[in-house]
Amino acid sequence: MKVPVSIRVWGVVAMTALVSSCSGQKDKGEGGDKAADQAATPTGAEAPAATAPGGSQPEAGKAPASPAAPRVIGMSQCNLGEPWRVQMNEDIRKAAESHADLKVVFKDAQNDSLVQRSHLEEFVAQKVDLILVSPKEAAPLTEPVAKAYRAGIPVIVLDRAVLQDEYTTFIGADNVKIGREAGKWVAQALGGKGAIVELKGLMTSAPGQDRHKGFLEGLELDKHPDLKIVFDADMQWLEPNARREMESALARHRKIDLVYAHNDPGAHGAWLAAKQTSREKAIKFVGIDALPHEGVQYVKDSILDVTFQYPTGGAEAIDAARKILAGETVPKKIELSTRLFTKDTLAQGGQAIQ
Ligand code: FRU
Repeated sequence: MKVPVSIRVWGVVAMTALVSSCSGQKDKGEGGDKAADQAATPTGAEAPAATAPGGSQPEAGKAPASPAAPRVIGMSQCNLGEPWRVQMNEDIRKAAESHADLKVVFKDAQNDSLVQRSHLEEFVAQKVDLILVSPKEAAPLTEPVAKAYRAGIPVIVLDRAVLQDEYTTFIGADNVKIGREAGKWVAQALGGKGAIVELKGLMTSAPGQDRHKGFLEGLELDKHPDLKIVFDADMQWLEPNARREMESALARHRKIDLVYAHNDPGAHGAWLAAKQTSREKAIKFVGIDALPHEGVQYVKDSILDVTFQYPTGGAEAIDAARKILAGETVPKKIELSTRLFTKDTLAQGGQAIQ
């Protein structure tokens, strides 16, 4: 079994996740214990009796004043190699921090769908109270998400969709819309003609497919016969791949007017390749994510011409989780909005897209 090297741990609860995924042992999950309880007793021994706050023993004859056990949320992140995902976990951690009755167990699938599938199985075995998952790919995660949901555990799917609707709620921005807005922006910025390179996100993940579909809709190639996508490649959301693909594009095409990358790391990788051959000034670069310290900074630094915000949904996930755990119903889909950032709109914090 692949051993996760970087698991964001939060409190003692997270250590169980570490112990169980490192050893490959599945928690038996019998006896109704929650992951939190098992965390305190990784050897499987009985949990020690709870002491009253402050460590004092309860007075004889009186019931111990034990605070309610925290609700355990298992969070499976598809990787932590990309700044956007680190930010999502941070947003979740921050939002949960003020709720003493919540504990979040973070797991990192290191960009491996099989590892991520096992996360969900482990969360079910540990009988966590709620699962958050930001899947790497749609197809391999569809069944484990459905199984957890059928086992009676509420599941919140974040940012990348799965293939069916057996989960509690989906939280994310509309990637077709973002792609469409990017396409419209590009058609206009190029005055309806030019050579485009499209560097796609992982095409087995929903945002990659949606950002491509929307882009074509926004470009309206039938109305703009002089706009052409001259090169496209799947860079799988990764900057080094984008850089390599752009090197090929530059070698093959003497004229490239614009790069549309499905995320900001991809756009930055393409810019680095163009800069290496001193062609970066002749090319416009379009990205998606708009993290303040990443895409927005690239716009400030004149590396990107535009980036579209892709909110992480971390705070919204904790908000929805609290409602679900309190027995409230939440909508099946919680759609997050987006904003466009260009040099002209930076000062006002970007421009809202309706
Ligand atoms: C991070 C990321 C973001 C992108 C999102 C799409 O893994 O690649 O850059 O917007 O995933 O799911």
